[in-house]
Amino acid sequence: MSQNKAEKTKRVYIQFAMGLECNPLVAALKATKTDFHWVGAFPFEFYTSQLKNLEILIGLAGMDPVHQVDSIGSVPASVLASFAIREFRPDLVLNAGTCGGFLSSEHRIGEVLLGSQYVAFHGRRIDLPRMREYGIGKYVVASSANLSKHCALRQGIVSTSDALDFSLEDKVYMAENQGTLKEMEAAAIGWVCQFYKAPFLPIKTVTDFVDHGAATAEQFMTNYAVSVENLKTEMLKILNYLGNNPNDPIWNTPV
Ligand code: ADE
Repeated sequence: MSQNKAEKTKRVYIQFAMGLECNPLVAALKATKTDFHWVGAFPFEFYTSQLKNLEILIGLAGMDPVHQVDSIGSVPASVLASFAIREFRPDLVLNAGTCGGFLSSEHRIGEVLLGSQYVAFHGRRIDLPRMREYGIGKYVVASSANLSKHCALRQGIVSTSDALDFSLEDKVYMAENQGTLKEMEAAAIGWVCQFYKAPFLPIKTVTDFVDHGAATAEQFMTNYAVSVENLKTEMLKILNYLGNNPNDPIWNTPV
């Protein structure tokens, strides 16, 4: 019987870039701050918890030691993901965070959406033979159709760059990769997941509309609190669903 129970246990790794987005889930899961020797000098933080049959590791990029702000963006995201996945060997990797949505896609501020199909870059613009496609990337995203239905969360294609603003070039590349959710980490994590063959799902809450006249930073600051609260609420529903559904196709997405 104990072997049965052990067989059903699944490991979920959840990665955040910003402390204010991570802390509510850490509190709700009563997760424990855990030090790992392999973190070395990096500012990464880790929290561990258990929910139903899920063994959960939460990774936070942590504070930049020079600028004393959250280490957002693709570089910390890929290094953190690489450390965490190598050590924890999760059955599923989630990346929770904020994103810019589009009025033209009828997104709502504070709406939480699941990634679908693939994650791609719109900020790696390399107009050389074959390098263009390499730059855009396209890394597979876990099958989340059942989760989407169960939690009533819409899906979108997540697209990554290291910029908060939306340049004309970004627009061209997002049209090309068909991205509808603009953010700053997911494709970097997707790139890491392909090497570990780890199913990967980005989960993003909309703080601003990219195709709206108002400045992104202003919209972001205004809407941040409500978006982050919704993210925590939906993350708990998602984790409960995952805990109750060990045979969902999401666990077996070919990577
Ligand atoms: N995070 C939240 N809104 C964003 C945007 N518009 N671009 C990139 N990252 C974001």
